[in-house]
Amino acid sequence: MTNTTVTSSRRVWDPLVRIFHWSLVTCVLLNLFVVDDGETLHQWLGYVAVAWVGVRAVWGFTGPRHARFADFFPTPSRLRQHLSALARGEPEHHWGHNPLGGLMVLTLMVFVLLIGLTGWMQTLDAFWGMEWVQDLHEGLAEWLMPLVGLHAAAALIMGRIERTRLIKAMFTGTKERY
Ligand code: HEM
Ligand code: HEM
Repeated sequence: MTNTTVTSSRRVWDPLVRIFHWSLVTCVLLNLFVVDDGETLHQWLGYVAVAWVGVRAVWGFTGPRHARFADFFPTPSRLRQHLSALARGEPEHHWGHNPLGGLMVLTLMVFVLLIGLTGWMQTLDAFWGMEWVQDLHEGLAEWLMPLVGLHAAAALIMGRIERTRLIKAMFTGTKERY
């Protein structure tokens, strides 16, 4: 049997990051799969998601260490080092987001902003009747689905590889290694 005794732990996700994450998940999943009619509730959920990304972006410069973009920004050299360590079978350990995780979370945030922007554009007279705006909104939303799936799967798989309870940490704030 694998040993699952906690060997070390550290508080990494402050309350803002955790509330941001699960609020964003709720708004985005509802808009993707439940309230996808473009009506008032859909629009409000979309704006709440966008507002959270805005708050999180400010927090990325002002928040505690692991919340900062500088802590996990996926520079080419960080990505190279991370990938070659994985390929060697000696995964690096990061208390914050690893470089690939950082790339994914930034991508997810950009997608939410672009989907919110194209959603809002559909409500403006200036874009009335322009089909490309609606097509772009729908197309981006369709791309977001597999990205979210990949993100959740990566959290499960990387957690196992790095022997770290990543998902639990998004609820409790404390990352445990075992
Ligand atoms: C998290 C943000 C959002 C997500 C994930 C999202 C996702 C979606 C999805 C999946 C659809 C259905 C596409 C289809 O029928 O195939 C849709 C439609 C629509 N969305 Fe959004 N949306 C978001 C934000 C917004 C916002 C902020 C607005 C406007 C203020 C908006 C306005 C619309 C409209 C008007 C439609 C209907 C398009 C049609 O007539 O088919 N959305 N959205
Ligand atoms: C609509 C769905 C989702 C979106 C848009 C999303 C977005 C994000 C974002 C933006 C972050 C960065 C958090 C921050 O630094 O403030 C993040 C991190 C994280 N998400 Fe999600 N997420 C989604 C679904 C999920 C699901 C379903 C799970 C669980 C299986 C999950 C697990 C995690 C974990 C564990 C982290 C932290 C990863 C690490 O420790 O480096 N996410 N997510």
